[in-house]
Amino acid sequence: MNILLLGSGGREHALAWKLAQSRLLAKPGDRLYAAPGNPGIADHAELVNLDVTNHGSVVRFCADRRIGLVVVGPEAPLVDGLADTLRAAGVRVFGPSAAAAQLEGSKGFTKDLCARAGIPTAGYVRVKNLQDALAALDGFAAPYVLKADGLAAGKGVVIAEDRADAEAALGDMFDGKFVDSASGAGAEVVIEEFMKGEEASFFALTDGASIMAFGTAQDHKRVGEGDTGPNTGGMGAYSPAPVLDAMRRGEALERIIAPTVRAMADAGMPYSGVLYAGLMLTDEGPKLIEYNCRFGDPECQVLMMRLQSDLGELMLACAENRLSRSEAARFSADTALTVVMAAEGYPGTPQKGGTIHLAEKEAEGVKIFHAGTARGAEGDLVANGGRVLNVSARGANVTAARQKAYEAVDAIQFPSGFCRRDIGWREIAREAG
Ligand code: AMP
Ligand code: GLY
Repeated sequence: MNILLLGSGGREHALAWKLAQSRLLAKPGDRLYAAPGNPGIADHAELVNLDVTNHGSVVRFCADRRIGLVVVGPEAPLVDGLADTLRAAGVRVFGPSAAAAQLEGSKGFTKDLCARAGIPTAGYVRVKNLQDALAALDGFAAPYVLKADGLAAGKGVVIAEDRADAEAALGDMFDGKFVDSASGAGAEVVIEEFMKGEEASFFALTDGASIMAFGTAQDHKRVGEGDTGPNTGGMGAYSPAPVLDAMRRGEALERIIAPTVRAMADAGMPYSGVLYAGLMLTDEGPKLIEYNCRFGDPECQVLMMRLQSDLGELMLACAENRLSRSEAARFSADTALTVVMAAEGYPGTPQKGGTIHLAEKEAEGVKIFHAGTARGAEGDLVANGGRVLNVSARGANVTAARQKAYEAVDAIQFPSGFCRRDIGWREIAREAG
């Protein structure tokens, strides 16, 4: 069949690489298209120019090219209802409806659902104006967790160390500083109890009824070594996350993922696609921090490095509501680790156009995913975004995977780029005993 992949980052490069190996694309004439894609994705897919905000044009493209499956990488088109439009036009799609994507798009929606279904998460209140927000602070202790509602590209969360900082941040939130015009983030704020523990990510595929565990990962959100400095989309990740041992994975599935999928179906908005749970591993067991309605970036890259099952088949089974008849996803027992090489300036304004030279051939067990690259005038590779490359490697454990990943990093010439040198530090300390 023909498949259309939407997105342009390292996550989508990893998905394209894995989809290209699918039996769904094995027949001569089967095509993988990517919109808009990037120079790395171009190795596996035909890049096409499509405006994903114009749902009609995506539907027309699917009809013209007889697309059998659309895979949506990022959250924005999902929250915007692209999957609904495609399904209504009879196109199979991997990714949730707009109603179901509220699990990522609206923090208030998700907190209310957790409260109704008894899902472990931080205590909270939803507030709609500054006066109520300031009064609500009395019910919480420092540090204060404040979240502007709606998609805010990770920028809507403030952890304030004391009351004065919390009041100032709330002032900003209701002043519109965090307002995202597309989603209206900032019109409402969620104040949460602070949870203590280690964070880890848990992934599940679902067709709305049946659930399949789909691996674990841990990432590094801060830009600086030792997890310091401003937050980013993620500077590196590894999978599996050994802290999510079998017991905690079982708890996460039973107490968090399964009741969520049930509650969404009961509410008439079945969730279909990948459900990515950000978890806090507290003394009382895993608690939900947040949901994402898509794969994590760069968590997807390390999951795909380990995935042995046919990604296309699994995605199609979700899209066709027959996941219960699929075998459980198989992953290599190896660890995969990815190091993000970013452009100077990130997570502020990144320097664009910096030259990149990659080795002709990747070493065994190494994959370099393109996250923010473009072709320069001479066809040379240049930086074109904040996060530019995801240098990924597999090894017997985090220590071995990390060594291989940094060897690959050191073989790359990218003078205007930088990376953290300590990806995996927590786990490496544990491996060293
Ligand atoms: P979110 O966008 O909801 O994932 O929040 C961003 C980050 O803020 C998370 O990855 C956590 O590090 C932190 N965070 C969010 N909510 C809480 C909470 N209730 N307690 C402690 N940390 C939190
Ligand atoms: N790496 C975090 C995310 O994709 O949301």
